[in-house]
Amino acid sequence: MTSIYEVLESDHKLIKQWLTELETEIAAADVEGIEPTETRTFDILSRFVTAHSKAEDKVLYQRLLDSETTVEVGYEGEIEHDIVANLLLKMKKCDRGAQWNAYFKVLKETLEQHIDEEESTVFSRAEEIFPDEETQIMGAEMEASRGELPDIETRVRGASLLHGSKLHS
Ligand SMILES: [Fe+2]
Ligand SMILES: [Fe+2]
Repeated sequence: MTSIYEVLESDHKLIKQWLTELETEIAAADVEGIEPTETRTFDILSRFVTAHSKAEDKVLYQRLLDSETTVEVGYEGEIEHDIVANLLLKMKKCDRGAQWNAYFKVLKETLEQHIDEEESTVFSRAEEIFPDEETQIMGAEMEASRGELPDIETRVRGASLLHGSKLHS
């Protein structure tokens, strides 16, 4: 059995990897002067972050809202999820270019800060109120609710662009 903390940490690692992947892609497009019209990496990141956040709301934050000692930290996490969802929505409606890149920078900063806070403050508050058995149940619920993981290894376009292989393909 896997605890909710382990599931969340591995999800967070993947989100950070996809953010770096997309950042590399944006930088490569700048360097090569390529029109950044490709949306596949963003689509995958967006779908995964949405699935992760919804599952987290249901499995973790809903429980934190139920306890008087953690209600505020629960709301804080949910509000941050709303901010991220709103940024993702804006990015979907925006053409790739300077404004889109600016949205991406804010998204990356917001998500990284949110993840750091979850792994420090939220985890330690959760550890105070959930017994070990419950964190195992929550881990299974989180995996079931979040669904399939995207595979970072299949996505190397940004790196290959930086190494110029796009020019030869
Ligand atoms: Fe979250
Ligand atoms: Fe999270």
